[in-house]
Amino acid sequence: MPGTEWYGAEERKEIMDVLETGAFFRYNHEHIRNGMWKAKEFEEEVKKITGAKYAHAVSSGSTAVACVMAAAGIGFGDEVIVPPFTYIATIEGVLIGGGLPVFAEIDETLCLSAEGIRKVITPKTKAVMLVHMCGAAADMDGIMQVCKEHNLVLMEDAGQAFGAFHKGKSVGLFGVAGGYSFDFFKIATAGEGGVCVTNDEKVYNIMQQFSDHGHDHIGSNRGMEQHPILGTNFRLSELHAAIGVAQTRKVPAMRDAKRANKKYLMSRLSEIPGITFRTYPDFEGDSATFLDFFTPSTETTQKVVDQLAADGVPFINYWFKNMYHFINQWDHIKNLSSPYKMAIHHFGAPQDYNKLDLPKTQNVIGRLISIGMRASWTEAERLAYADKLIESIKKVI
Ligand SMILES: Cc1ncc(COP(=O)(O)O)c(C=O)c1O
Repeated sequence: MPGTEWYGAEERKEIMDVLETGAFFRYNHEHIRNGMWKAKEFEEEVKKITGAKYAHAVSSGSTAVACVMAAAGIGFGDEVIVPPFTYIATIEGVLIGGGLPVFAEIDETLCLSAEGIRKVITPKTKAVMLVHMCGAAADMDGIMQVCKEHNLVLMEDAGQAFGAFHKGKSVGLFGVAGGYSFDFFKIATAGEGGVCVTNDEKVYNIMQQFSDHGHDHIGSNRGMEQHPILGTNFRLSELHAAIGVAQTRKVPAMRDAKRANKKYLMSRLSEIPGITFRTYPDFEGDSATFLDFFTPSTETTQKVVDQLAADGVPFINYWFKNMYHFINQWDHIKNLSSPYKMAIHHFGAPQDYNKLDLPKTQNVIGRLISIGMRASWTEAERLAYADKLIESIKKVI
């Protein structure tokens, strides 16, 4: 469990600040606040880590994706290239926003590849919703190039990659806008929460207005100002923001600890013939929330996963069989099972989702094992984990 591994007095202090004032709403109520503006503070902390000019806190990583879509002006009937390996929220965000997802191949970066994107571009393609999976950046040089060549709008779902960089630039800042998740499973948690970032003031204003019924938030009295656009309620409460403040301050130290543990485990895994690692376009910028490695075949990986489970080795993810992260299990998406009529029902799906031809992706995810990296291991715990892991894998390989 990342974020909450390092949960303690700092989070409690920030929460108590809010409980003592009773100002749970992020706008107004200056007279009871005692100077506390936790959502704003959370945004400042996110700006410090990412270097973003603008950050806006919302209720989840999923609603951050919705704000990014709105800010990019992507909606009704627009074709958006998406990865088949991501948390389902990415695809839901595109569909609920009125977009039509077009699945493209990923590669061993675990993210959409420039080649994969290029292959599915048609005259109808409007945008790419890039996901930086498992804590590290995609191939930004290649992807920026293909977006430029084809005039595609780049949006980033960096839900899993807060604290990750590519050549010194934070993920989330390459396209029009990007979103991070601060749910319970991320490097830092707000309990539930998300933050959208951009370097463009106009884009920021759309996101902050869209997330609060279109209020422009100009002047001190929210509620009496103008509504330049339509929006809805994706606001973050001050209580969640308070946890986010304390957690975000811990990210650099947590990331260092994870990086050290990851490097050690990678060196130990290298002892095993046939084990290879995810491709990192910038290894130095990895947030190190996961250690991702491959065996030579899907069959071998499945045997290794079964062995690890039998031996009680924790923190193992096999996404190929996971219900939430891989297209093979997304029957509801393939069958367009939504409770109401969406743009995709009106226009029809741009691909036959039941007959997608993604051999590279199937091969990559079939062979992949991801270990959730700890920040809190002692030297002895790390050693014990590594020994158990290696011994278990060696029984198969
Ligand atoms: C890539 C990605 N996008 C979006 C989300 C959604 O975030 P949340 O759970 O905060 O809504 C997640 C959550 O796991 C994610 O991994």
